[in-house]
Amino acid sequence: MILRPALETELSELSALCMRSKAHWGYDDGFMAACRKALTLGPSDLRESLLQVAEDSGAPVGVAQLIVREGRAALEKLFVEPAHIGRGVGRALFEWAARVARDGGAASMIIESDPAAAAFYRRMGARDAGTAPSTAIPGRALPRLILTL
Ligand SMILES: CC(C)(COP(=O)(O)OP(=O)(O)OC[C@H]1O[C@@H](n2cnc3c(N)ncnc32)[C@H](O)[C@@H]1OP(=O)(O)O)[C@@H](O)C(=O)NCCC(=O)NCCS
Repeated sequence: MILRPALETELSELSALCMRSKAHWGYDDGFMAACRKALTLGPSDLRESLLQVAEDSGAPVGVAQLIVREGRAALEKLFVEPAHIGRGVGRALFEWAARVARDGGAASMIIESDPAAAAFYRRMGARDAGTAPSTAIPGRALPRLILTL
């Protein structure tokens, strides 16, 4: 597996990967439809954030999106292709994000997590820091976690 920056030509393929990955938790069609906009990557994401792809045998198997601005970092997305979950892809992308955030001068990295993924972020060293409102689903609160860098 290698990690590399995302290409503009593969943004729709990566958006579909995000949808498949999110659906791994068993959400219904209505929920997934409500998430689609938030999980769609466009050219502005390439301009305004860092998008890193995990690639295995020539195919994307995971993607992470990181924003580092004014000493603050946010892990905006971390999605692994369902068939590759549990094989270290998430850890590799998370460690990439933490390293780039630290090198960019951030003291901490914020994560607004899917409830099912919060235990993964705790395993990666993040601590609970309340909740944050979901941008995709009005009224839904998401676990908020912080990794000290
Ligand atoms: C959450 C996710 C990114 C984790 O990626 P992954 O590639 O499966 O994780 P890894 O295989 O690198 O696991 C690293 C460690 O975390 C642990 N871990 C992984 N997922 C976990 C979970 N859901 N709960 C608890 N621990 C978890 C692993 O056991 C492993 O521990 P180890 O170091 O003791 O072996 C992946 O499950 C995923 O994409 N899920 C669906 C989409 C999603 O919810 N993304 C997050 C949005 S906020």
